[in-house]
Amino acid sequence: MNFHKNHWLLFGVTFFGFVGLSLIVGILPAIWVQNNAEPLPGAEPLTTLQREGLGVYVSEGCVACHTQQVRPLAVDQAWGRPATAGDYAYVTPLGPLVPYAPAVLGSERTGPDLTNVGARQASDVWQYIHLYNPRSVVPDSVMPAYPWLFDEVTVAAAGQTVVPVPAAFAPKNGSQVVPNARGMALVAYLLSLKQTPLGAATATPPGADTAAQAPTQPVADTAAQTAAPAAAPVLAWDESLGASTYTGTCAACHQANGQGLPGAFPPLAGDPVVTADDPTEHITVVLAGKQGGEIGGTTYASPMPAQAQLSDEQVAAVINHERTSWGNAATLVTPEEVAAVRGGLQ
Ligand code: HEC
Ligand code: HEC
Repeated sequence: MNFHKNHWLLFGVTFFGFVGLSLIVGILPAIWVQNNAEPLPGAEPLTTLQREGLGVYVSEGCVACHTQQVRPLAVDQAWGRPATAGDYAYVTPLGPLVPYAPAVLGSERTGPDLTNVGARQASDVWQYIHLYNPRSVVPDSVMPAYPWLFDEVTVAAAGQTVVPVPAAFAPKNGSQVVPNARGMALVAYLLSLKQTPLGAATATPPGADTAAQAPTQPVADTAAQTAAPAAAPVLAWDESLGASTYTGTCAACHQANGQGLPGAFPPLAGDPVVTADDPTEHITVVLAGKQGGEIGGTTYASPMPAQAQLSDEQVAAVINHERTSWGNAATLVTPEEVAAVRGGLQ
């Protein structure tokens, strides 16, 4: 029995050691996970188009900067609830030969986690403008532009989505920008990225976990209310909650300076709804969204997505932020007024 002389012994030990370790460390746990992780109730498989988009996502290397795994850490709260095994169960066959689509977990977090981006950034128009050139909507973005997911045409054909690229970033020869087949598939995939809510018993609507996101400061006015009932002359409101909600939820479209993007998203500075004395319409737009209205002579192609996932406190604070920023000086609203309008909408 000498390792140095007996080749059978030497190679046998190495070979079976390798096979044994592979089984224990890799293969058996994977089989266990495959047999024990069920898709979450209500999890939806990808459509054909969305699956093509997953292929574009992988081939363009988006995974180099984006994860799809929310960790149970405070810094990840903004991206959704912590991921569970069921999120990665095989709901989406890639074809007869591949029974599941790969989970594109990623490990580099240069950009935001995209697990729930379809709920957070539900506007296809925003996604197109952002992919065409991220700097046009997020001035300091380091994300590369993906102009090859778009075609430049003189006149868009009927049914083609014209991307309202801001003038500074649009083609200089006046051509229109339309997404090509890969661009459309990728955006369909991005919009499908929504976390399945955990436990049907919790009465939260889909996407409500994003509301819980922004590590919000305790709302100051609950204390103020108990201390000083109706008589309080000056309306106390949480300015930092308003600013953080605006940055997290609205600035991607309406921009940090409230100027919007010409032709794509309306300015809120000086906007008649935002500066109206009666805030009912303002509250309604934020809670229920809006589409196709004419604002300052422009009709916007993209809808304003409903933001009903925000709490009454968040809506009141973000509205007050709009009403007191960028030169606006309009009457303030209370969470109670928001609750009343919300009740009327249901
Ligand atoms: C070099 C790193 C990098 C690469 C590669 C990259 N991104 Fe990004 N991405 C970022 C950064 C940084 C941000 C945050 C700033 C911004 O919104 O532009 C971001 C933001 C986003 C957002 C908005 C997320 C949110 O929460 O609002 C989406 C959607 C997105 N990226 C999709 C993609 C897709 C799809 C690809 C591949 C085609 C891609 N990214 C490739 C760095 C990257
Ligand atoms: C995905 C882009 C997007 C996001 C995010 C977004 N908006 Fe809008 N918003 C729009 C568009 C587009 C319109 C114009 C809709 C129309 O055609 O009437 C609009 C309209 C509005 C209006 C009405 C302006 C008017 O004169 O009618 C208000 C107020 C407003 N948004 C506030 C907000 C607030 C507050 C948030 C965040 C909580 C927000 N928006 C998030 C795109 C967006």
